[in-house]
Amino acid sequence: MSLLRKKSVEQSIRDTEDPEHRLRRGLSALDLVVFGVGVIIGTGIFVLTGVVARNNAGPAVALSFIFAAVVCGLAALCYAEFSSTVPVAGSAYTFSYATLGEFPAWIIGWDLILELTLAAAVVSVGWSGYFASLLSDIGVHVPESIAAPPGEGGVVNVPAIGLVLAVTVLLVLGIKVSSRVNAVVVAIKVTIVLLVIFAGLFYIKGDNYDPFIPPSQSTPEASGVDAPLMQVIFGITPVNFGWLGIISAIAVVFFAYIGFDIVATTAEEARRPQRDLPIGLIGSLVITAILYAAVSAVVVGMQNYTQLNVDAPLSHAFEYVGAPVFATIINVGAVVGLTSVVLILLLGQSRVFFSMSRDGLLPPFLSSVHPRFQTPYRSTILMGGLAAAIAGFIPLTELATLVNIGTLFAFVVVSLSVPILRRTRPDLPRAFRTPLVPLVPVLSVLGCLFVMINLPLETWYRFLAWMAIGIVVYFVYGRRHSRLARASDRTHGVQ
Ligand code: ALA
Repeated sequence: MSLLRKKSVEQSIRDTEDPEHRLRRGLSALDLVVFGVGVIIGTGIFVLTGVVARNNAGPAVALSFIFAAVVCGLAALCYAEFSSTVPVAGSAYTFSYATLGEFPAWIIGWDLILELTLAAAVVSVGWSGYFASLLSDIGVHVPESIAAPPGEGGVVNVPAIGLVLAVTVLLVLGIKVSSRVNAVVVAIKVTIVLLVIFAGLFYIKGDNYDPFIPPSQSTPEASGVDAPLMQVIFGITPVNFGWLGIISAIAVVFFAYIGFDIVATTAEEARRPQRDLPIGLIGSLVITAILYAAVSAVVVGMQNYTQLNVDAPLSHAFEYVGAPVFATIINVGAVVGLTSVVLILLLGQSRVFFSMSRDGLLPPFLSSVHPRFQTPYRSTILMGGLAAAIAGFIPLTELATLVNIGTLFAFVVVSLSVPILRRTRPDLPRAFRTPLVPLVPVLSVLGCLFVMINLPLETWYRFLAWMAIGIVVYFVYGRRHSRLARASDRTHGVQ
């Protein structure tokens, strides 16, 4: 039963008062919304819009974005209840420690490490592409061998490593510094996105929306590990375009929304977490969903979906309509915007790691806070270094789907935990209550599972392999060193 030992909600909150492990409470509701928007808008808007319109959904791509937002919205309603009830760093990890028990919590924490570290690495590689193209705009050509990972034409991706390391230094210097830098970056990014929407409106041609939903085309049956789990289980082969194409594209555009859950990882640093966290989570999701739908609807109106560029669709659409000035501005915006995504992903990552170490599931030296900057500098440096190494040396295109599966898994656990905590701890004050429990959590779980089975078998294998490593680490280290385990040993007189 020790696997299911739970850390009480009160204990989680008490831990945050421990002076050696205390984070500063400096963030307002607006800071949290800015955090959310900063991490959500990134590769999704700058790259996936074109990929999905061209390959899967056609001019109806905005619908895929809206459906994905609905799946995330259901999960966000569950996250909001949890984060306002258990306002402690660590997000889904902490919630599950209080509800499901230590082992499931470890699994979730381990899963979040995968999601956040890989996502930061994936986005920094995307950033390096835009960075190289900006440099080439001003006549500086970076040889591919030092600007792309092995397997994608390069040896080492130096710009991506540089970005991750620079962001790591910012995070070590303190959340207030980095959130101020982030606010400026997010303002630039949102301005550019609005520019795309409003400038793009003038170049829309009605013909490009015809047909709005292109007739469905069956794809050659994917085989082996490339086949989606849905095909393996139900024999349903993937389809492009048509309504099925729009729906299966949700599994791809889902990446575009990753990040709103990170708002919950900064719970301990919010000034009034009970009020501010729900605003931060749901506010940032709603804002970005509207922007995504608008941008994708505009871009497919500017250029026929069959001609969209898959690397930099927004700037190419402006070049196509003869407005290259906008194209350059968008390129600059992408470089700046993707920086803030990496920043917040790594921030969330270090906070999850910090919580796990504070609980004794990872070595304690990782959770000590810097005496001057009050940041968990050791875990930040360790994981920043790891993300930099991954970004520099490992080809990441396929690993992006691994990020999606990891995130969806965490959403499932959080959604399941809402009704469980309502039953086990009905007495806890809940500043935000998920509406229509258990309907909303159940729909959230079903929505996430549906998106998950649209992912390839290979992604599932990799995900299970990572989880298997996590289980070994838990039994070798965490199980014995857990603070809860040691507390119960003391109670029972074990030395
Ligand atoms: N949602 C983030 C992006 O689109 C991860 O880059």
